Amino acid sequence: MKHVTLILLLGLAGVSFAAIYEGLADLPTRQFDFVVIGGGTAGNVVANRLTENPNFSVLVLEAGDSHEGLLIPQIPALALSLAGSPLDWNFTANVGDRSGNRTTIYNRGFALGGSSTINWMAYTRGSADDWDRYAAVTGDLGWSWNSMQPYIRKNEHIALPADHHDTAGQWNPAAHGKSGINAVSLSGFTHEMQKRTIEVSKSLGPTSEFKFNLDMNAGDQLGVGWAQSTILHGSRSSSATSYLGPKYIGRPNLHVLLHAHVTRILPTGPKDGQLAFHDVEFTQDNGATFQSVKASKEVVLSAGTVGTPHILLNSGIGDSASLTGVGIKSLHHLPSVGRNLTEQPAAALAYIVNTTDTNETNLGNPALLKQWNDTRTGPLVDPIILAFGWLRVPEDAPIFKEVTDPAAGSRTAHYELAMINGNLGVPEPGNNYVTPGTIVVSPASRGSISLSSSNPLVKPTIDLNLFDSEFDLYAMRAAVRSAQKFMSHELWHGFVIKPAFDLDTDDEVDAFILNTSVGAAHPVGTASMSAKGAKWGVVDPDLLVKGISGVRVVDASVLPFVPAGHTQAPAYMVGERGADLIKCNWQ
Ligand SMILES: Cc1cc2nc3c(=O)[nH]c(=O)nc-3n(C[C@H](O)[C@H](O)[C@H](O)COP(=O)(O)OP(=O)(O)OC[C@H]3O[C@@H](n4cnc5c(N)ncnc54)[C@H](O)[C@@H]3O)c2cc1C
Ligand SMILES: *[C@@H]1O[C@H](CO)[C@@H](O)[C@H](O)[C@H]1NC(C)=O
Ligand SMILES: *[C@@H]1O[C@H](CO)[C@@H](O)[C@H](O)[C@H]1NC(C)=O
Ligand SMILES: *[C@@H]1O[C@H](CO)[C@@H](O)[C@H](O)[C@H]1NC(C)=O
Ligand SMILES: *[C@@H]1O[C@H](CO)[C@@H](O)[C@H](O)[C@H]1NC(C)=O
Ligand SMILES: *[C@@H]1O[C@H](CO)[C@@H](O)[C@H](O)[C@H]1NC(C)=O
Ligand SMILES: *[C@@H]1O[C@H](CO)[C@@H](O)[C@H](O)[C@H]1NC(C)=O
Ligand SMILES: *[C@@H]1O[C@H](CO)[C@@H](O)[C@H](O)[C@H]1NC(C)=O
Ligand SMILES: *[C@@H]1O[C@H](CO)[C@@H](O)[C@H](O)[C@H]1NC(C)=O
Repeated sequence: MKHVTLILLLGLAGVSFAAIYEGLADLPTRQFDFVVIGGGTAGNVVANRLTENPNFSVLVLEAGDSHEGLLIPQIPALALSLAGSPLDWNFTANVGDRSGNRTTIYNRGFALGGSSTINWMAYTRGSADDWDRYAAVTGDLGWSWNSMQPYIRKNEHIALPADHHDTAGQWNPAAHGKSGINAVSLSGFTHEMQKRTIEVSKSLGPTSEFKFNLDMNAGDQLGVGWAQSTILHGSRSSSATSYLGPKYIGRPNLHVLLHAHVTRILPTGPKDGQLAFHDVEFTQDNGATFQSVKASKEVVLSAGTVGTPHILLNSGIGDSASLTGVGIKSLHHLPSVGRNLTEQPAAALAYIVNTTDTNETNLGNPALLKQWNDTRTGPLVDPIILAFGWLRVPEDAPIFKEVTDPAAGSRTAHYELAMINGNLGVPEPGNNYVTPGTIVVSPASRGSISLSSSNPLVKPTIDLNLFDSEFDLYAMRAAVRSAQKFMSHELWHGFVIKPAFDLDTDDEVDAFILNTSVGAAHPVGTASMSAKGAKWGVVDPDLLVKGISGVRVVDASVLPFVPAGHTQAPAYMVGERGADLIKCNWQ
């Protein structure tokens, strides 16, 4: 871990492109057509797409630093070292009452690219059912799976894996974009763990829950398949390296200001009987001084599922009684801000394995680092999740007598096995591990993000409230049992030595789950879309904030349910459609 941090710091002296500014005085003006708050996954999509029109000027305000010149974020296998690094907001979250109010560090990207600069690069879109549910709940067919296909293709281009192997039979290229901006590829090194995962799946045949699925991103996600990841030629492809890449960053109408921590959006007076917000307040010196810029057309909030509700609440937009309670003047009563936080519980059931090709041996190996650096080959070109299984609780499970099925449909997973090439906990020296990470991807519990202070620089209170619904504990138990079943298949013999945890009785399983689960870092829902005129929700289906004018939200926080998958591809999809909605509104 230490050497990793050192390399990260040594890399800090990077080159900067002209349109990325460090100080306010460097900006050519203080008024732009659009001000995008947060240069993260979705925010950079918006900035890129809006500046395709030379008539639109765009300023991106990013609290963190640039990604440029940093080595570690580029190396796929080292992603875990970015948690708790200078590129992380390091929020704290309460896991929930069921876990004794245990707290964990809650990672979010603090740099250009946002969480796409520090995430694990898994590329999963959720299921067709997930997107069709967004359309049904918002009353806008534009959010349906079929309607979103053009946006998927604008986002994605499939790239050759780092080892240039033939990928036939490992995914369905027809389900993917060929000319989008962000790269997606299959892994670029042969790993025994990955090979055996697919062999076990195929050996069980098409009627097994672990059946082989050629492409989990083609709408019907169930089964086991090869991981797809946002990796280009063995390096991370983030929204910063792609949407703000050399091809785009030189646009004269695109401006990016770093170290700009946005505190509030400010009302500029009523318009058509509604409060309009066009001024954005921020600080570059941790609150010693505050500055502001103006968005003559729109303010676009892309600060993510934690940052976006935080800024809205600081601005007096939220539940008025709660705001008054912390000493903030309520300007617009919108009770759903920060509510319905939906996160997936994740546990790590490690197994000790008989190979040296896992993280424990690979990470500290200078020869592999040199190989990656010199040729972009070797095990470090791959992320730590190498394969996925997407699985369901049986239809006739007794839990459905008590709880309505929270999954979006019958071709949608309740839980996932993420095949991780290493141990997420503290490995015993000398051992190598594989971890079928168990994640409840369609949870029923809801948490919240709220304020504890009227000082906008104080971090928000994050309550994940995991396992509040009995369904989530039930599904996690099923996930642990599935992982045990999968890992005990005879094709693992000689490779799997033994489980790192002895979990036998249901009580032992429950204790393990409640004691060790954390959030999967896939939160959504805190600035949720709902139908126009609905009594709940924060934004309309066109992403404009309800009841005020001039402000749109374009990031993962608008998703009313968490997709049954990891959330970066959905954040990109929201970014692409959000940018299109804005363009249609103004040209
Ligand atoms: C450690 C980790 C691993 C993950 N792994 C995966 C994975 O493998 N696959 C996957 O699909 N998903 C993964 N995710 C989730 C995925 O990355 C996110 O869901 C997605 O990137 C969110 O995009 P976003 O645009 O909503 O927010 P972000 O990308 O987080 O962007 C928000 C941006 O706003 C900035 N910001 C916030 N507040 C302010 C403020 N007040 N002022 C100025 N700027 C501000 C932030 O610094 C950031 O740049 C992971 C996330 C994390 C943290
Ligand atoms: C930009 O503005 C000019 C002049 O008003 C107009 O002719 C042109 O069509 C606009 N371009 C786009 C892409 O909207
Ligand atoms: C997160 O923690 C790391 C390690 O302590 C620190 O270097 C970094 O500055 C922190 N991030 C923020 C945004 O404060
Ligand atoms: C967790 O915190 C909540 C709110 O403060 C409290 O009501 C609850 O009793 C706590 N639970 C445990 C197990 O400590
Ligand atoms: C949470 O979302 C549900 C729909 O899934 C909605 O009925 C409810 O009103 C929302 N709650 C809040 C506080 O927004
Ligand atoms: C990576 O290669 C570059 C030259 O391409 C060199 O300057 C740098 O020191 C190398 N870094 C590491 C960690 O090997
Ligand atoms: C990798 O190894 C390091 C150091 O041994 C450890 O801290 C980390 O949790 C491991 N896991 C993964 C998946 O990277
Ligand atoms: C590990 O695998 C080797 C063969 O590759 C075998 O000889 C050895 O017995 C295995 N060790 C264990 C503990 O299973
Ligand atoms: C769970 O945590 C509690 C409290 O720290 C501890 O007493 C118990 O032994 C733990 N159980 C397991 C299975 O780790």
